Amino acid sequence: MDVAGLAAANPVWVGSSELTMTLDGITACVDAGAGAVVAKSVNESAAARRQLDIADYAFVSAGGEVRAPGSGRPGDGLLNRSGLARVGLDDWLATLAAAVAHGAPRGCPVLGSITLGDPAAAARIGRALASVVPAVELNIGAPHGREARAVRQLTEVDGVADAVRTVRNAVGVPLFVKLPGQASDVVALARAARSAGADAVGLVGRYPGFLPDLDGGAVLGSWGAWSSPGCLPMSLYWVGKAFQRLDVPLIGTNGARTAKDVLRFLAAGARAVEVVTALWLGGPAALRELVDGVAGVDEGFVGSALAGTREYADVPPLPAPAWLPYTARWTSSGR
Ligand SMILES: Cc1cc2nc3c(=O)[nH]c(=O)nc-3n(C[C@H](O)[C@H](O)[C@H](O)COP(=O)(O)O)c2cc1C
Repeated sequence: MDVAGLAAANPVWVGSSELTMTLDGITACVDAGAGAVVAKSVNESAAARRQLDIADYAFVSAGGEVRAPGSGRPGDGLLNRSGLARVGLDDWLATLAAAVAHGAPRGCPVLGSITLGDPAAAARIGRALASVVPAVELNIGAPHGREARAVRQLTEVDGVADAVRTVRNAVGVPLFVKLPGQASDVVALARAARSAGADAVGLVGRYPGFLPDLDGGAVLGSWGAWSSPGCLPMSLYWVGKAFQRLDVPLIGTNGARTAKDVLRFLAAGARAVEVVTALWLGGPAALRELVDGVAGVDEGFVGSALAGTREYADVPPLPAPAWLPYTARWTSSGR
């Protein structure tokens, strides 16, 4: 299935993270069967690169237990701090060119990525990236935006439109825009991004998180970015809404850990799904499992869940659930 004309090997894409910050990291994803790989984000800010010096990661079990470093398990949430790729633009272009050359014969495009700082600088970087990659992803949903001034999270339509237009005008390859899930109307942000020239929209970025350790402080000793399987329905909500209301290719992200999760993203309307945390936990084998689990899925499946989805007003009355505690039961006359 293509996304805005970009042909990918399959709909399971590896999203941007430290796992795609080196040539080895990207080629490992390609070799494990990724449909496409999004390289780690860069931007113009030295501060964003320095933030990698304070990167820290805590895996948290579904029961709230913070694991020992490096011992995350499938199903865990990940609270983290991190920075952007610590590399000069020329060196990064050389890395990307080599990664693209490795992916192309295997049908796996490698995308460049920018996490927004200053829009004009993003446009400059986007133009340079577009000289070596087949598509560029612009991340304007960074959950670290409030903590780290060097990256921005845009949650207002005007800001989204301005930033996307500025970058769009400079980038001569497909431009994909990754949006935050934190806005009162994410579909409005997607519409603004599309109108400003985005070829596809990514929904949705991770959420900011905070976890007291109950020992007088907080896990990581700071705020962080949070990904967990529990984020999945929240991401699917906006993918489904955007699919229903807009005519723009969608890329799902945030919360896919299993092949079933990827299929749910596709059924909600995504044409591809960017996974990251599943690979931090399960490595290349996890990626292969996801890819095998979606084999044979075609265009007809995209958005198929929306056909059976109604507005509340169109759902016929149901009997009160018999399993509710009696204090919560209602009768049809008491509705
Ligand atoms: C450690 C880490 C670093 C990330 N770095 C970036 C980044 O540089 N740029 C970006 O657009 N997204 C970044 N992301 C977000 C992922 O690309 C992805 O959208 C997000 O993790 C949700 O997907 P998941 O639930 O499969 O992890 C990062 C995620 C993680 C966990």
